Amino acid sequence: MSKFARIIGTGSYLPPEIVTNNDLSKTIDTSDEWISSRTGIKQRHIVSTETTCDLAQIAAENALEMAGIKSTELDLIILATTTPDKIFPATATLLQTAIGATCPAFDLQAVCAGFIFALTTAEQYIKTGAAEKVLVIGSETLSRIVDWNDRSTAILFGDGAGAVVLSGSNEGGILHSKILSDGKYLSALQVNNNYINQTGFIQMSGNEVFKIAVSSLSTLAEETLKSCGMTAEQLDWMVPHQANIRIIVAIAKRIKTPLDKVIITLDKHGNTSAASIPLALDVAVRDGRIQKGQTLLLEGIGAGFSWGSVLLKF
Ligand code: COA
Repeated sequence: MSKFARIIGTGSYLPPEIVTNNDLSKTIDTSDEWISSRTGIKQRHIVSTETTCDLAQIAAENALEMAGIKSTELDLIILATTTPDKIFPATATLLQTAIGATCPAFDLQAVCAGFIFALTTAEQYIKTGAAEKVLVIGSETLSRIVDWNDRSTAILFGDGAGAVVLSGSNEGGILHSKILSDGKYLSALQVNNNYINQTGFIQMSGNEVFKIAVSSLSTLAEETLKSCGMTAEQLDWMVPHQANIRIIVAIAKRIKTPLDKVIITLDKHGNTSAASIPLALDVAVRDGRIQKGQTLLLEGIGAGFSWGSVLLKF
């Protein structure tokens, strides 16, 4: 049985169409100055006809290629998404067929914490010996649940997908993972639909979400480091959920990590929910900042609230 679940490949994909802050200011009462200074976001990618599965497929194929394994070698696929293509079947099963895999595949829904929850789940399968090679993806077409007339939310979100291939390993990998949920915050962040009224859009109390995100993720980062007997100086990189630069700066300050050790992609991607962490990870792996053997802290929070962290040796 393998001691650790280790990332052996990363991949990502962004749809080609870019919507800048200036583009948004032509249709809603906002400005590049307001959005940039309050969030750090400059632009986001938006799908035209692509589905969540289409984005996931390209990200997954890139990750498999880096890992040097075929889709038929996978033992499990876990796809984190808030924007599945259909109520059923799971988008993960659509993806399984699209990439030519034959293993079990399921979706996991923990909104912006979805990738952390999926990674943590995959780790359990590997550590118990139930699986050896697992594909974990975060893929979102959030633009389909954004009210483009609501300036308090339309400025924040984007579409994209990120993926990792995990393999059993005895030489490092995930060292610590933790997931948490507290369902009493429904009114702070939700999609205002149910299965009777199918059409719904994101509704958010931005200030409340901001405060909870900073306090939950700072506390969790401190606890994670403590559980591993580590200090923040021993981290090579933080790869946080990309929601708002001010949230990231506040957390980094509290755990005393300089910003040049934090991977930031939200300026170009916006908040891509479950895709944001694996997208940021893949960008930094491919541009050479993240190197094999380095220690990474991944953290994310989403509606619910659900939040979690993964500390790993890359
Ligand atoms: N453009 C211009 N003005 C805007 C605006 C926009 N896009 N959105 C809101 N405003 C206005 C408000 O109406 C308000 O005006 P008022 O003072 O006249 O009432 C003012 O700007 C301040 O609004 P406020 O909501 O207090 O701003 P903020 O500093 O809290 O920033 C967010 C708003 C949404 C950027 C910020 O709260 C945030 O990012 N929260 C976290 C959201 C998040 O990450 N969600 C996903 C979590 S996974």
